[in-house]
Amino acid sequence: MRSNPLKMLIILTAAMALAMFTVPTVLSLYTGQHTFVNGTNIDCLKCHSEVYTEVTASSASVLNAHKNAALNTNYTTYLAIGGISYNPSGTISTNSGGTWTWNGAAWVDTNGSQRLERLDVNGNNAIENNEICTFCHNIRLLGFGQDAPGSRTEHAALIRTCDDDRCHGNGQHVYNDYRLFSGGSYTVTGAGRLLNYTNTSHSAFYVSASNEPSVFLAVRGYNYTEVPGNAIPNGTYISRGYWTCEGCHSETRVGAVLIESAGFPHSDSGAPRQRYI
Ligand code: HEC
Ligand code: HEC
Ligand code: HEC
Repeated sequence: MRSNPLKMLIILTAAMALAMFTVPTVLSLYTGQHTFVNGTNIDCLKCHSEVYTEVTASSASVLNAHKNAALNTNYTTYLAIGGISYNPSGTISTNSGGTWTWNGAAWVDTNGSQRLERLDVNGNNAIENNEICTFCHNIRLLGFGQDAPGSRTEHAALIRTCDDDRCHGNGQHVYNDYRLFSGGSYTVTGAGRLLNYTNTSHSAFYVSASNEPSVFLAVRGYNYTEVPGNAIPNGTYISRGYWTCEGCHSETRVGAVLIESAGFPHSDSGAPRQRYI
């Protein structure tokens, strides 16, 4: 059957009309995505489903502890404003010398700015496995602008690790206040600091052996002068100190073969001479 030119014209016109209606939608979709940059309402799973699978499969107690922390708006705000100390009477002191006060609904600084950071995007009073991502990765939460060097500004993500000063502390600094958590204790927030105590068997391997740089840039947050985490002072990259934590706290299986050194056989006078083994 031969195609009817009139029919074709109608179809073409209809397609063009459809395209004209569709284009503005596409454009506004991209415009709307400006919230993508700084917001916490991005669905990380769309592109990182394999990480989601790992997070979901991780130790439930550790995952739940982080979800509790992520749901705690006092703590998330504390992170975002650069908190270094919290007073349960209702004040947060920041690294830049500021003081924020709880007004019953939000945290307010001396200039009247209000902040209350919520990671519970769907508002169901729980943090799901797709909402927890922003807790460790969102640059705004860590007090950075979207131009933070090393961040994926396309989606406002940055890597910080367990022994960051602001998370579990490290050998040098602990900027986390355990009083932000009901029943919280210093051992939870200051784990890196505790590993560093000179009289424990952990300090040697944590401070020196765990200082190998990762591939992630050690970006200083606003007003922080020191390099975050357990990085070598002024190092460019965050150290791999988090592997230390994972060694005891993840369910990663490690295969190791210990080779016993050969002792000097004192009973054999003909043994080959050697000074050290
Ligand atoms: C539109 C797709 C997309 C979405 C949605 C997305 N990402 Fe990404 N992400 C990427 C790409 C692409 C990379 C770069 C991968 C690479 O370099 O190997 C990346 C890299 C990262 C990195 C590594 C950064 C680094 O320094 O190496 C982190 C962390 C990250 N994303 C977290 C998130 C989080 C958290 C969310 C949700 C808030 C998210 N991403 C949403 C595409 C996406
Ligand atoms: C408890 C903190 C924490 C949570 C929660 C978390 N991450 Fe991460 N993420 C990290 C750390 C630490 C690293 C760097 C460790 C490493 O070397 O893989 C990382 C690495 C990444 C990377 C980069 C991986 C690479 O190989 O370069 C991506 C992408 C990422 N996370 C996405 C996500 C997504 C998506 C979620 C939520 C499903 C999520 N993360 C939840 C702490 C977290
Ligand atoms: C040598 C093993 C070891 C290493 C390394 C280690 N931990 Fe622990 N950690 C423990 C043990 C054991 C406990 C106590 C567990 C308990 O009481 O249930 C603990 C307790 C904790 C707790 C408190 C848990 C709770 O629910 O009260 C936190 C938080 C913690 N560690 C974080 C870290 C971080 C962060 C690192 C890395 C800087 C780290 N740990 C390195 C063995 C280790």
